Amino acid sequence: MSNIESYEKRLKDFDWSIAEKELDYNKGDSINIGWYCSDRICKQGKADKKALIWEGLGGIEKTYTFNDVRLRSNTIASFLKNLGIKTEDRVCLFMDKIPELYMGFLGILKLGAIAQPLFSAFGDESLHVRLDNAQTTAIITQRKHVSKVRKILDQMPYLKHIIIVDYEGKNPLREREVAFNMDDAIQVENFEISQTKAESPSVLHYTSGTTGQPKGVKHVHYSLISQYLTTKWVLDLQDDDIYWCTADPGWVTGTSYGIIGPWSLGITQCVLDTGFSAESWYKFIQKRKITVWYSAPTAIRSLMKAGENIIKEHDLSSLRHLASVGEPLNAEAVIWSEKVFGKAFLDTYWQTETGSMMLTNYPGMKIKPGSMGKPFPGITASILDTKTFEPINEIGKPGLIGFKPGWPAMMRTYWRNEETYQKKFENGWYLPGDRAYIDNEGYYWFIGRDDDVINTGGHLVSPFEVESALLEHEAVAESAVVAKPDDVNMEVVKAFVTLKPGNEASDELELKIMNFIRKKLSPLAMPQEIEYMDTLPKTRSGKIMRRLLHAKEWGEEIGDISTLEDD
Ligand code: PRX
Repeated sequence: MSNIESYEKRLKDFDWSIAEKELDYNKGDSINIGWYCSDRICKQGKADKKALIWEGLGGIEKTYTFNDVRLRSNTIASFLKNLGIKTEDRVCLFMDKIPELYMGFLGILKLGAIAQPLFSAFGDESLHVRLDNAQTTAIITQRKHVSKVRKILDQMPYLKHIIIVDYEGKNPLREREVAFNMDDAIQVENFEISQTKAESPSVLHYTSGTTGQPKGVKHVHYSLISQYLTTKWVLDLQDDDIYWCTADPGWVTGTSYGIIGPWSLGITQCVLDTGFSAESWYKFIQKRKITVWYSAPTAIRSLMKAGENIIKEHDLSSLRHLASVGEPLNAEAVIWSEKVFGKAFLDTYWQTETGSMMLTNYPGMKIKPGSMGKPFPGITASILDTKTFEPINEIGKPGLIGFKPGWPAMMRTYWRNEETYQKKFENGWYLPGDRAYIDNEGYYWFIGRDDDVINTGGHLVSPFEVESALLEHEAVAESAVVAKPDDVNMEVVKAFVTLKPGNEASDELELKIMNFIRKKLSPLAMPQEIEYMDTLPKTRSGKIMRRLLHAKEWGEEIGDISTLEDD
């Protein structure tokens, strides 16, 4: 049965208690996402239903039922408890998209600890700043990533346990390391799940800003209410769906809609833990008979590039509903998807801090290709004047997106950084930091970010982090990092550097610097181009004028430099 009701009707009748009722949650009850995503589904008679169909490199396959998920998350929770991990301790998940990541996430929540998922391609420095900020007690990882942890171990006295999920006994375990094999462990039938409350912390996701270190976005168990309902209504997941969310749980889409949303609804989901290729993705859809697909614009643009012939070679007729998030979804991509898949990708807009979808192309609503759609019912949104923060109420006039705080999945603070959190509010509105306008039918159209953060392939990269890392390279004297336009990734990282005396500008050095950043930070943060400069443009007070370099890259008018100089 479809979950679809008209947007207008949903708006009229809306109350978040709709989700509370469906989840049998009463105010004041305990609410634990781990329980909701496994035990409750088993209680509803779906213990033997497939929860996860996982495929890794070389086509290896593993399948887990909801009862398997329940047992494995119990077993992980119990293992962590025996190590001495306590309520609200931070436990980092630092793994590829392997089953242990998904079960581990729920296990941590069942224990009442806080899950801190981090993208496994992060280098040691990216890892270190995030573990340091969170003062993480334990990290669950794989052999292939453990060397990055070992490298920074001395600087992390708070990190007591390094749990390796694929230890084979070949090399001895080192200081603080312990082996845990999820599938071989004696499964724990009954685990006393932590009676977490609505406001108990659940997940800590790190996101990058323009300045300063990455911020830990703190979410709570009550986020389930929005994640459940948006999944049900916007992704329209139904009992017999086979769902594929292509996002990595190192990022918020991979947890909100790659774990919590689908599993709280008892839906079968598939995970493909291999790199991207159009061929492997289409094969996966065909083989798994994917019905609902949630992906990102960069992937869609890459598929467009791969052409239509390859689509014709596959049977993709199982697809019935497609959605996208992470960056602007250009009109061409929407029109193309409708043509080649018979279904348009529906754009959704939200962010790590919002925890769940905010603006959506609600199923059934008229699609305006290129638009982010309208506010999800229960979300009060507006376009605000950039100075007064009052709603603009003028069709087509650009301003800042603003949301009235109070939806269930909203972040509760930035970890150990309440001051920055408070700065996200003006005049009673939460400001996500993006600019947009509203058209005559109430649709939102994205214009751009209101800061210098780079969105590359749907991943936010802080220019500050890359600039700082560049300065650690022996040849670099000064650095400035900006976004450069890119056909597929929308933006890529570009660095401008001046060299220390004694260093020659060369292609070889450019490659060395690129690799240095890739290893230290991540492949996403690696500049795709490095331009050598004799000097960098600076304000009178000596601050590098990043905006000037940005304007140059985008072929924009530089405008009045005298105002920039006073920045
Ligand atoms: O700038 C917006 C852009 O991505 C930012 C959020 O990034 P992150 O916190 O990493 O979360 C990504 C996935 C939820 C936003 O502030 N963004 C996200 N969705 C869209 C978008 N920009 C345009 N259109 C979208 N649909």
